[in-house]
Amino acid sequence: MGKSSHIVWHDTLVTKRDRQLRNGHKSCVLWFTGLSGSGKSSLANALDVELFHQGIKSYVLDGDNIRHGLNKDLSFKKEDRKENIRRVGEVAKLFVDSGHIVSTAFISPFYEDRQLVRNMFEQNEFIEVFVDCPLHLCEKRDPKGLYKKARLGEISDFTGIDSPYEVPINPELVIEADKMTIEKSVQLVMSYLKDSDIL
Ligand code: PPS
Repeated sequence: MGKSSHIVWHDTLVTKRDRQLRNGHKSCVLWFTGLSGSGKSSLANALDVELFHQGIKSYVLDGDNIRHGLNKDLSFKKEDRKENIRRVGEVAKLFVDSGHIVSTAFISPFYEDRQLVRNMFEQNEFIEVFVDCPLHLCEKRDPKGLYKKARLGEISDFTGIDSPYEVPINPELVIEADKMTIEKSVQLVMSYLKDSDIL
């Protein structure tokens, strides 16, 4: 069913800009993308700790968690992944509107879906962070034993095995997760936020 033509957009009285001024920093989405087991969630959470301790308004949206609630109706088929990413984009937009730096940790394997989210935001509000970790290492780590199950055919449409991961073409940041510690990676993201006047 399409959108009703009887719905009218209401601007909020307190604006995003008002909130950013009060917070003392701008808001944005840090869109972490990468294979399962690449370290997206660990990095997003380590960054969240750093931001939180500095008194910055931040929050993490994580694939596994969101799929327990808001997106529990979605599978890993291409069309459902698209809807997963679209909804997360909309939620991230609300967080940015509320003045937060929101870190999202989703595989988000398809270029088109990431572009769709990028286009929801103003310039400089969407920061794509490619967590680059070779498949063989993610598979070796296999923190949840899912690669093993995918190889045995017990899980289908598994990213990197029988479902593609489209490498970001022009991400704002690349984290070489196999070469860099989490601490160093957090520093890199923090520097980016400072250099681009978000903090
Ligand atoms: S997506 O592609 O962005 O819609 O995926 P996402 O919402 O980030 O969910 C990824 C986590 O779900 C688990 N999982 C799978 N991943 C990939 N493919 C298949 N088929 C699959 N089935 C379950 C897996 O634990 C992913 O977590 P991470 O943190 O990425 O390892």
